[in-house]
Amino acid sequence: MFLTHLVCSACGTVYDAKQTLCSKCQKPLLAQYDLAAVARELTRETLRTRPDKSLWRFRELLPLPQNVDPVSRGEGGTPLLRVPRFGGQVGLSNLWIKDESLNPTQSFKARGMSVAVSMAKYLGATKLAVPSAGNAGGALAAYAARAGLEAHVFMPRDTPRANILECRQLGAYVTLIDGLITDCGAEITRRKTDEGWFDMSTLKEPYRVEGKKTLGYELAEQLGWSLPDIILYPTGGGTGLIGMWKAFMEMEALGWIDAKRPRMFSVQASGCAPIVRAFEAGADHAVEFPNAQTRASGLRVPKAIGDFLMLRILRESGGGAIAIDDDEMIRITREVGGAEGLFVAPEGAACFAALRSLIDSGAIKRNEQVVVFNTGSGIKYLECYG
Ligand SMILES: Cc1ncc(COP(=O)(O)O)c(C=O)c1O
Ligand SMILES: [Zn+2]
Repeated sequence: MFLTHLVCSACGTVYDAKQTLCSKCQKPLLAQYDLAAVARELTRETLRTRPDKSLWRFRELLPLPQNVDPVSRGEGGTPLLRVPRFGGQVGLSNLWIKDESLNPTQSFKARGMSVAVSMAKYLGATKLAVPSAGNAGGALAAYAARAGLEAHVFMPRDTPRANILECRQLGAYVTLIDGLITDCGAEITRRKTDEGWFDMSTLKEPYRVEGKKTLGYELAEQLGWSLPDIILYPTGGGTGLIGMWKAFMEMEALGWIDAKRPRMFSVQASGCAPIVRAFEAGADHAVEFPNAQTRASGLRVPKAIGDFLMLRILRESGGGAIAIDDDEMIRITREVGGAEGLFVAPEGAACFAALRSLIDSGAIKRNEQVVVFNTGSGIKYLECYG
C-alpha cells in the first residue's frame, strides 16, 4: 500500500488512515501517498496495458491495500467525447465532454462511493449513512449492497423520484426530510453515535475524494498526458473539483504531466450559488446560501465543508464561478441532446449553458480546449421535463 497518512487540508495536522475529520479544526483530511515509490512501480505505459478499465486500474494511487478486493461495479473509464456540433453552435472549435452518466447508478458519485465504501468496509464499518441530493444516495446504496453493509440514506423529500426509488430498490433505508441536504446532514450528525452509523458525508471522510480524483487521472490520460485549457464543473459539495486538483498535483509529482493547469470554473444554479457569491466577494469561505432552490438537485448545497478549498482552487487556477438559471439549464438540455445525442443531467446542462456567457465575457477564447463534466444522466430527472 502506498498510502502513508492523512493530512488536514486547513491546519496540516497529520493523522492515520482511520481518522475522518481533523479533530483540531473539523476540516477535511486529504490522503497522502509515497509518490516516489508509486512512480517506481507504476508508469503511464504500464497503465495503458492494464485490462481493467475501471478506476481501480489506478490502484497504487488509491487507499485500499493492494491485497484487499475493492467493492466495484466497473466504475470509471468513462468516455471523453468531442462535441463538435454543439461546439459549433456556441463558437468553440475544441469542446469536449467527459460523460459520467455511463457510470454505475448513472453518475460520477459511483467513483467516490466505490473507493469510500471499500475503505469503510476494510476499516470495519458496518452501517453507512449519507445525506444526499439524490445521486450520492443511489451510489451508496449500490456499493453498500455489494459490500454486504447497511446503507442509511437521508434525502430532501423533493429529491427526484428516480433517486428515491433507486435507493429503496437497492436495499437502503431511506428517510425523507422536509428540508435541504444540510438538514439531512444535521440529522445524521445528531443520531450517528447512538445508531452506530459511519458518516459518509461529502469530505467528512477522506476517501470519496480519492475516488473522484480519478476523473483527473483519466482526463490527462485521454488527452495524451496533457490537460485542457479550461474545465467546467457543476459544483455542489465540490469533491470533483477538489479531487481533480489533487490528481493534477500528484501527476506532476509522478512526472506524468507538467506544471500547466486548466482554468477551473465552478458552475452553480442561480437559486443556490454560495461559491459564486463568495468568489465574487473575494471571500475565503462561503456564507450559507439562504432559501436554496434549484431543480438541479445536485447543486442544491447551500453550505459546503470544503468551500475554502474550492475557492482556493478557482483562484489559483485563474478560473472563476458562474451561476445559471434553471430555465436555461432545462432549455439547453434539449440543445445538447439534439446536437450530440446525450441526455445530460441538469447539472451538466448548467455547464453547457455557462459557455456562452464565458465566451461573451472573454473568459474563454474560441480556440481554447474546453472540457465540460456531465456528472449525471437526464433520465433521473424526468420531473424537470414535464
Ligand atoms: C449530477 C450531479 N452533479 C454534480 C453534483 C455536485 O457534485 P460535488 O458535490 O462533487 O460538487 C452532484 C451532487 O449531488 C450531482 O448529483
Ligand atoms: Zn485541522
